Formats: sequence, C-alpha cells, structure tokens
Amino acid sequence: MNYLERFVISGGNPLKGKVRISGAKNAAVAILPAVLLADSPCIIENLPNISDVANILKVMSALGANVKLINKSTVEIDPKNANSFVVSKQMAEGMRASSYFLGALLGRMKKAKVAPPGGCNFGVRPIDQHIKGFEALGATVDYEDGMVDAKAETLRGSSIYLDVVSVGATINIMLAAVKAVGLTVIENAAREPHIVDLANFLNSMGANIMGAGTSVIKIRGVNSLNGTNYSIIPDQIEAGTYMAAAVATKGDVLIENVTPKHLESIIAKLRETGAKITEYDEAVRVTMTERPKKCNVKTMPHPGFPTDMQPQMATVLAVANGTSIVTEGVWDNRFRYVEQLTLMGADIQVDGKTAVITGVNQLCGAPVKAVDLRAGAAMIIAGLVANGVTEIEEIERIDRGYEDVVEKFTNLGANIKRVYLPDGAKIMKNA
Ligand code: EPU
Repeated sequence: MNYLERFVISGGNPLKGKVRISGAKNAAVAILPAVLLADSPCIIENLPNISDVANILKVMSALGANVKLINKSTVEIDPKNANSFVVSKQMAEGMRASSYFLGALLGRMKKAKVAPPGGCNFGVRPIDQHIKGFEALGATVDYEDGMVDAKAETLRGSSIYLDVVSVGATINIMLAAVKAVGLTVIENAAREPHIVDLANFLNSMGANIMGAGTSVIKIRGVNSLNGTNYSIIPDQIEAGTYMAAAVATKGDVLIENVTPKHLESIIAKLRETGAKITEYDEAVRVTMTERPKKCNVKTMPHPGFPTDMQPQMATVLAVANGTSIVTEGVWDNRFRYVEQLTLMGADIQVDGKTAVITGVNQLCGAPVKAVDLRAGAAMIIAGLVANGVTEIEEIERIDRGYEDVVEKFTNLGANIKRVYLPDGAKIMKNA
C-alpha cells in the first residue's frame, strides 16, 4: 500500500516567537552546478535542507563529482572526476534548475546534454533566451531524443540582450561565459539577490564578473577557477512567507538570519496592510494587531514585488478588510491556487493575469492541494488563519523549497502536523 503525506492544520493560533531562515533555494540550485566549473573542491555552507537541493546533489554525484555532506547545511564537493555531460530525463524530473547544468557543463566541458526542466507548472516555461545566449557564445544547440544538446569548439565572449528579464537565462549565460575567451555583456539582465550571490561565489573562485545586481553584467572570461568556501545568502521568499503568515494570523514574529535589503518590496506591501515591521541588521520583527487592510500588488522582476510571494500575499489579502487587486507580471498562469483558496471560502475573481480579492471575515478549514511550491505555502497560511481543520495534499511540492516547515511553524505556536495515510484514506469529509 502506498502512503501519502499530508499536512493537517488546526487554524486560529496567532504566530508568536522566533524563526530562523534557511539558505536561499534559488541561489543554492545555481551555485551547486557552478561548482562543476572549479578545478578543486568547494565547501558550500548555509545550504537549505530541501528536496530540490538533494536532487541537485544526486545529479552532481551521477556526473562523477565527489559529494560529501559535512552536516545538514554544509557540503564539500570535489568536481575533479565529473566526466559525464549528460543529465537524463529521470535525473532532471521535477526540477526547474536542471537547466543550470546546461550552462555549467558547457562552461566545464564545452558540451552538455540535458533533459528539459520540470518544476512548477505556471504556463509555458520557455528557455529560448538561455539558448540565444549559448549560441551568441558560439555553441550550437539542438534537440535530440527529447534532450537539449549544446556543444562548442570554443566559447567566445559576446554581447547578449535578453528580450525578457529572465533569472534562469542570466544565470545560465553567466555559467557558460565565466571561462569563455574574452568579454561577455548581458544586457537587460535579471537583478535578483541570487544572481548577485552566484556572481560573488564565482568571483570568490577567481572569476571576473562585474555589475551583478544591475541590468548590465560584464563577464571577463578566465582560464580556470579554484575551489572556495562559500556561504549562501538567506532565502528571501522563505522569510517573506513567515512574514505573511505572521501578518495573516495577527502574530508577533522575529524572523532571523535574513538580509532586510532583499525584503524591501515585501516589507513595503505588508506595511500597507497595517503590519508593524522593524528592521535589524540580520532580522526583521513583524507585529500585527488588527485585521489586514486591502492593498494592490503587482509582481515584477527584482526589485519589484516577487512573483514567488504572490500566492502568500493573496492569502493575506483574502482575509483583509476591503477589495485588493493582484496583478501577475512575470508568469502567464500563476493563479492555479485560487481555486483551492475559494474552497476555503475566499472570494477571488481571476481574469487573465489579474485577481480581484474581496476580503472575507473568516476562511474555513477544507481539504486542499498544494498545486505548486508557493501555492502550497499559501495553503499553509490559509490553514493557519482558517476556522477549523485544513488538510493539504501533494505536500512534496512544499518540501521542494521549505526546510523543516512543520517544526518552524510549530515553534511559532501553530498547530500543524505531517501525517502519513494510506493512499485514498481521508481525515476530512469530502477530501
Ligand atoms: N522566459 C522566456 N524565455 C526564457 C526564459 C524565461 O520567455 O528563455 C519568461 C518566462 O516564461 C517568464 C519570465 O521570462 O514569463 C521570467 O522567467 P525566469 O526565467 O526569470 O524564471 P526561472 O528562471 O525559470 C526563477 C525561479 C522561480 C521564479 C522566477 C521569477 C529558480 C530555480 N526559479 O525561475 O522560482 O518564479 O525565477 O522570479 O530560480 C520558486 O522558487 O517558487 C520559483 C518558481
């Protein structure tokens, strides 16, 4: 018999206390493949203990790298014997970041054969800008047996203008260009904190990357890169998720191990809802004493409000006083979770990329699904504020990106449990 894991939440407790934020998922999934560009071992610290990271490490081992876990958040990787350039469909399954093996293997071996990325489903997830970048550097890119096959005699620096601001394309081009001959310029580059973190990591190995964090990144190719010790930045979205949960439950939470500068747009919007937010050097305290006020949100590339916080923010607004408008400015289809929230009594109308959210007094516990990673985080927040019991299915999507999520919320006073039930069994009626 198959056993399924679910989260069961009894809502109503305001969150109170302290929570420590883990390392950033979206930095980790770029930095780990980047280790393949080094000639000697790297030690990576502050890694989040999540399934996306475990999957990347499995791929690294399968490619021939020697991966040694030093503790829960530290790994030593020696890439010396990584001689394979193939990441199969089975290895890439469920992982958006598998595409970073294209840039990293191209940079290391001048060839890469990688299955197209999986990951969360919010409409078409093209990689045309990644491929345009590789081709500008001199690679040929074909699709063979359902795999992306990239190779080059020599990679040469080039000027690349991205037609859309893409995190993935910016990272992949950096990975492929860092050991290319000459200067690469990426224009209209993404500016997310994890792009800066990857550039800092590569520079600490001896790369020459300037301008990360601005829309023009210049990469002067170097012959070789050394191993290094590096600590990953805190996860801005995990932090934002706990901040939103504190606001929705009218709690008082100190969120530790964060970079407040990375949280500016989230802080600004949560303040609009009436939250009191105090910033410290490496922490923020979120206090909420009233029902949230309505506010309008539009997601945009950094430094705009992050799309990866859109479902969590919408959940705060679902219990706000008044009507809010949330506009998705990055993905074509990131409102799939709305159907689940309406099962809990939310009043949300979606028209294309806009959601009109009329706040209700109270959500009601219900059986729901985590339709993607951040949607799952939103379901947890909804369960925490709802009246009664919420049962969340398909939580493996939440485990992709949130370390110790049950323990962290429990320490804040939430009533949340991970339960194992035989496939098909239900705790709740109608589930
Ligand atoms: N796009 C293209 N062509 C491309 C690449 C992207 O048209 O070649 C479009 C996409 O369709 C989308 C927009 O550009 O409309 C932005 O996509 P981007 O490439 O920036 O997204 P990504 O690199 O695939 C990363 C994060 C996502 C996050 C987005 C936007 C990782 C592993 N994933 O995805 O994170 O939503 O940036 O910030 O870094 C998450 O953590 O939950 C998550 C989904």
